[in-house]
Amino acid sequence: MPATVIDHPLIQHKLTLMRRKETSTGEFRTLLGEISMLMAYEVTRDLPLTLQRIETPLQAMDAPIIDGKKIVVVSILRAGNGIMDGILKIIPSARVGHVGLYRDPETLVAVEYYFKLPEDVSDRTLLVVDPMLATGHSAVAAVDRIKKTKPQAIKFLCLLAAPEGVAYFAEHHPDVPIYTAAIDERLNEKGYILPGLGDAGDRMFGTK
Ligand code: URA
Repeated sequence: MPATVIDHPLIQHKLTLMRRKETSTGEFRTLLGEISMLMAYEVTRDLPLTLQRIETPLQAMDAPIIDGKKIVVVSILRAGNGIMDGILKIIPSARVGHVGLYRDPETLVAVEYYFKLPEDVSDRTLLVVDPMLATGHSAVAAVDRIKKTKPQAIKFLCLLAAPEGVAYFAEHHPDVPIYTAAIDERLNEKGYILPGLGDAGDRMFGTK
């Protein structure tokens, strides 16, 4: 499944501000939150609606409301939390899950150090979030693990993707649509996206 690039001018403008090296930690966080809200609008476009009988001050009507169980936003730690915070601002009733993985430096196998999802997700859509789809290894490992809980559907949302990451993810999880604000040129030898924006976690949390 090809990645969907959400190319709304507001998103593209804010992404450019985020990329600038002089953008401060506070501004970076605010912009990521704003972009995440805007992207959530597109990613949730196909949520099913049902009609509910309500009364306005003037008369009764059958009005649309979102049908089904609340969606679950699943943050891939730690940078996923920046996107999650933005999405929760416009979907405040969403449920939340967290996945923490690190790569063993010797075996290069993804090791899980934290995993918590709502109990039964068999009738829920999961929105897995991580700002940077670089090599795609951690996203694939996270979705491998998440699929064991047998959710109804999964979508993957990132801010920036590398072509290599999109290809790797699509090869392993062709059933999971990818949404991103941009697909950049390539990865460098350290696995950073070029031109990219640097280390999203460090820029968001001011850890470097
Ligand atoms: N993770 C980041 O934070 N930045 C990159 O460019 C690649 C992975």
